[in-house]
Amino acid sequence: MSRITIIVNGTPETREIEDRTLLVHFLRDHLGLTGTHIGCDTTQCGACTVILDGRAVKSCTVLAVSADGSAVATVEGLAQNGRLHDVQQAFHEYHGLQCGFCTPGMIMAAVDMIRRHDGMLDEHTVRHELEGNLCRCTGYHNIVKAVLAAADKHRAAHAVAAE
Ligand code: FES
Ligand code: FES
Repeated sequence: MSRITIIVNGTPETREIEDRTLLVHFLRDHLGLTGTHIGCDTTQCGACTVILDGRAVKSCTVLAVSADGSAVATVEGLAQNGRLHDVQQAFHEYHGLQCGFCTPGMIMAAVDMIRRHDGMLDEHTVRHELEGNLCRCTGYHNIVKAVLAAADKHRAAHAVAAE
């Protein structure tokens, strides 16, 4: 057993856990943050994607003890003051989901992607970047449209901020 502290969505969370506990189980079972999904046992689906110290990771591939002292962002932490994050809003507006199972992982991957590219994204890049996130329902088209729309908004916001 180990005692670890992970800053989750800005709040330090300390728990006693078994050393083999995966980050995704820490989030879901120990903290009750069930927005992070488990869609496979082969590290392929990306439903468990969270942002760990600023980078998107599949939380089913990370031991919670190895994230001790780190900062994790999950889909539950995106909305602020009752207002959806721009990526969440874009998924809503562009119908980037059907059953919604893949959506939290898609959204976290998109948040990370937009930040890394500073919003400079095209369709090819978005499709390529989302190869690690599987969706059984949508055919990806509306997901890609949503990510591009959120990227546009990111660029516009930064252009205004730079003026
Ligand atoms: S649950 Fe992590 S990649 Fe599928
Ligand atoms: S919306 Fe159903 S798996 Fe993507």
